[in-house]
Amino acid sequence: MKGIILAGGNGTRLYPMTYAGNKHLMPLFNKPMIYYPLSVLMLSKIKDILIISTPEALPTYEKLFGNGNQLGINISYAKQEEPKGLAEAFIIGEEFIGDDSVCLILGDNIVYGSGLTGILEKSSEFVENNGGAIVFGQYVNDPQRYGVLEFDENKKITKIIEKPKNSPSNYAVIGLYYYDNEVIDISKSIKPSDREELEITDVNNVYLEKNNLNCRIFSRGLAWFDAGTHESFLDASNYIHAIEKRMNLMVGCIEEVAYRNGWISKKQLLKLAQPLLKTEYGTYLERISNE
Ligand code: TTP
Repeated sequence: MKGIILAGGNGTRLYPMTYAGNKHLMPLFNKPMIYYPLSVLMLSKIKDILIISTPEALPTYEKLFGNGNQLGINISYAKQEEPKGLAEAFIIGEEFIGDDSVCLILGDNIVYGSGLTGILEKSSEFVENNGGAIVFGQYVNDPQRYGVLEFDENKKITKIIEKPKNSPSNYAVIGLYYYDNEVIDISKSIKPSDREELEITDVNNVYLEKNNLNCRIFSRGLAWFDAGTHESFLDASNYIHAIEKRMNLMVGCIEEVAYRNGWISKKQLLKLAQPLLKTEYGTYLERISNE
């Protein structure tokens, strides 16, 4: 399975912070926002990752991650000229995906919690072996900001509705999706919406109509944030700060995931820690290398 991080967009809801800089480079507590979705793909055991961003921001990501070899992964890069919708990721990424299945994560989505690694691994395995798509639903207070699940009386999903004025439920579809290879053709077949975007919700509804969409509801032990507004950005930072301080561990620490996955050696981990040693980030890497 391949992985894509979609990290473009205009970030208008974070103005003026994003006037001159890409949202996914902003710090969520102690690391750039993009570390969190990257760690989620790595926890899914995905090693081939494409970062899609704006032409202006892309060189910065290349500087940040290079080709990914220091983390035991392969990172490549592609431009999205304009934010023409989430489903465009599969058209831009067509060559990268090849004949494979693919996991897409939005660059501003943070997921964390009990049992997450197992869910991620099982989801990629399921789609690789059975095809179809997997999306995740989470109860939210403000469903009108998202794609929302509509259920029938038997709790079967009947439709996903993008940013509804009158929400059929409080269950939003989060920005983490697993698809078989058909997602490329489906994305090419859908038409832009009224807001001129290729909507991922339209892609998901095609899978649903074909009876090929699996939706898993996130349990209470799992937290999901999209850090796209000032308030949710602060909430996500505070949450990460609280977890890291209280539990004496790190969330979204890509070097740690690479090490625990067995993709880099202790020596390589210590080399990555070296320039960070004035920070708790660096001493944490040193600590886990001695466990
Ligand atoms: P959005 O929240 O739809 O857009 P945005 O981040 O540009 O923010 P705003 O609404 O404040 O202007 O995007 C969700 C995520 O997907 C975010 O991480 C940016 C990314 N994205 C792209 O990379 N390309 C796109 O075409 C779109 C629509 C979003």
